[in-house]
Formats: sequence, C-alpha cells, structure tokens
Amino acid sequence: KLRVLSGVQPTGNLHLGNYLGAIRNWVEGQSQYDNFFCVVDLHAITVPHNPKTLAQDTYTIAALYLACGIDLEYSTIFIQSHVSAHSELAWLLNCITPLNWLEGMIQFKEKALKQGQNVGVGLLDYPVLMAADILLYDADLVPVGEDQKQHIELTRDLVIRLNDQFGSKDNPVLKLPKPLIRKEGARVMSLVDGTRKMSKSDPSELSRINLLDSPEEITKKIKRCKTDPIKGLEFDNPERPECNNLLTLYMLLSGKTKEAVAAECQDMGWGQFKPLLTETTIAALKPIQDKYQEVMADKSYLESVLREGREKAEAIAIPILAKVKAALGYSLPL
Ligand code: TYM
Repeated sequence: KLRVLSGVQPTGNLHLGNYLGAIRNWVEGQSQYDNFFCVVDLHAITVPHNPKTLAQDTYTIAALYLACGIDLEYSTIFIQSHVSAHSELAWLLNCITPLNWLEGMIQFKEKALKQGQNVGVGLLDYPVLMAADILLYDADLVPVGEDQKQHIELTRDLVIRLNDQFGSKDNPVLKLPKPLIRKEGARVMSLVDGTRKMSKSDPSELSRINLLDSPEEITKKIKRCKTDPIKGLEFDNPERPECNNLLTLYMLLSGKTKEAVAAECQDMGWGQFKPLLTETTIAALKPIQDKYQEVMADKSYLESVLREGREKAEAIAIPILAKVKAALGYSLPL
C-alpha cells in the first residue's frame, strides 16, 4: 500500500475548507492506503498562540479526525510534538535549505505581512518542519487543499537536493512525495468574499462555517453570506465567485454530482437556494458533531488512541531519522 501523511494545525475550530479540502479526502481514500494523520501542534506556535488553550485545541482536532470518519483500522492518528523526530529532522533539513526558498513562500509572505514587526523565525521555517512531517514517514501522497501545494513542492525540492548531495542514484536517502489535491473543494472560499479563501485567521466569524457550529449559527451565516443580484445559479462563471462557491459547497455536502446540482439550481433564486444549503449543511455536520461529543466524553479512550498513534508513528519515523543522520555523517556510536 502507498503511504499517506497529512495534518491540520490545532488553531481552534476546523472549518468547511479544512473538511472539504482535506479531511473528507483522507476519509474517502483511507482504505486504499497506509495513513498517518497528525495534529501539527508545533506549527501552531509559529504565530502568537495561547498556551492555556493549546492542549485542548489539540484534543479537539484529534477528536474531530475520529468524528469525521478516520478509521483506526487503516489510519494512525498522532500528535506532532509527541514524536521528537519531527523537530530533529527539521533541524537537519534547515541546514540544507536555501534561505531564499523560504522567503519566497506565498503563505509566509501573507502571514508575515499580517504580523508586521513580530515575525518569528519559526514562521519562516514552517515549510521545513512540514517537509520533516512528510519525509519522516516515507509518504507517497500528501492529501491537502490547494493552499499547501507550494509547501509540498518545496518538500520535493528538498528531497532532490538532499538525495543529490548525500545519497546515490540507487540509494536515495528520502522518498519523493506527491501532493494529492482534488479539484472540487480544494479551495473553499470565504462566505463574505468569494475571491478570498475560507480561513481560520479571517477576523470575520461570518466568513466561515466551523464543523462544530450550531444549526442556529449555520443558519445565520448562510443567511448573511454574500451573493449577487442575478437569478439562476451556475457553476464556473468567473464573474460570480460567490455563486460558484456556494454551489460547490452544496454539491460536496449533499453528495450530488455537479450536473445534478447545475440542473437543480439553474432556475433558482437565492431565496430558494439559501434554505436548501442551510438544511444540507446542518444535516451533513450533524453526524460529525454527534460523534465528536461521544469521543470528547471519553478522554481516556482518546488518550489511548494518541498513545498508540505515537508508538506507530515512532516505529517508522525513528529509523528514517537515523538514515538521514547517517547519510549526513553522524556515525559515532552513542
Ligand atoms: P491548515 O491547518 O491551515 O489546514 C489544514 C488543511 O485544510 C486545507 N485548507 C483548505 N482547503 C480548501 N479550502 C480552504 N479554504 C482551506 N483552508 C485550509 C489545507 O490545505 C490543509 O490541507 N501546513 C499545513 C499543516 C501541515 C501539513 C503537514 C499538511 C503541517 N505539516 C504535513 C500536510 C502534511 C496547514 O497549515 O494546514
């Protein structure tokens, strides 16, 4: 089986972008692959964070993985900071990463701009830690949303560079991973502006629907979401980004095909469509929310899942870290 690795940052809640762009695809593909899904809590401190909520937020994401349908028969769930090999490999990779590769990353530039004076080195280094996450597991595939593509390309460039400098043709040190980005849902847009992506850091709560939002919150957010004055709804009209986004949400959450949704909605106005999307969203999130409550009610179960996850993760990560260290010349016995 090919190996899959992916992760989500524990910054509060997960939104529909995280779900439709990433987690839903993890769940759908999981029986075909050998999967590792981590909660990347070391990435969460690359921007100012609250130490009082970090642990709880990390739990929440792990519980949401289970609630969304990650099945432990096929998948391992673990916490990034529990496996110290991630930090160690990140250091080794740092030393072969050209600074200008990192300075050119779109997400770094965006986040750095938002933070003004207080940009930490960790924010710049973020993609190297992400590369370590992927490479420690010899991952073949990395299922993510569109916004992570550039980071995976950097990971690939790092593998090529490291193998070139420290491996040989028949004995590469690290495996070259590939991004797995589905066309539909790869870029879920904000509800208040169809030209910006839905994001955890958007100051407007109305811009996103979180997986744990109540039916009332979902109703309010969809009621207030941005639309246009045109009657008749359609996909793929570049003049109508909101329309395309909302139809795509409806399509993915209802499980209907694009053709079926296009036909169903072609004569609708927003007054008819919004209640339909609201109802569909509430119904799609209900089983996730129910399961989430169940998982959170049994902390000791969740803890045992994460403990076992850590063991399975380390069983793979430690030998791969050792291989990289050996390739770089760390050969003295302990
Ligand atoms: P994060 O926590 O920002 O997002 C988690 C996943 O959700 C996807 N995503 C979206 N997809 C579609 N539309 C959106 N509006 C949207 N917003 C977010 C992201 O693409 C991602 O797949 N750097 C990563 C976390 C990470 C990681 C890794 C991922 C760390 N190490 C190793 C894969 C492999 C991040 O910040 O994701």
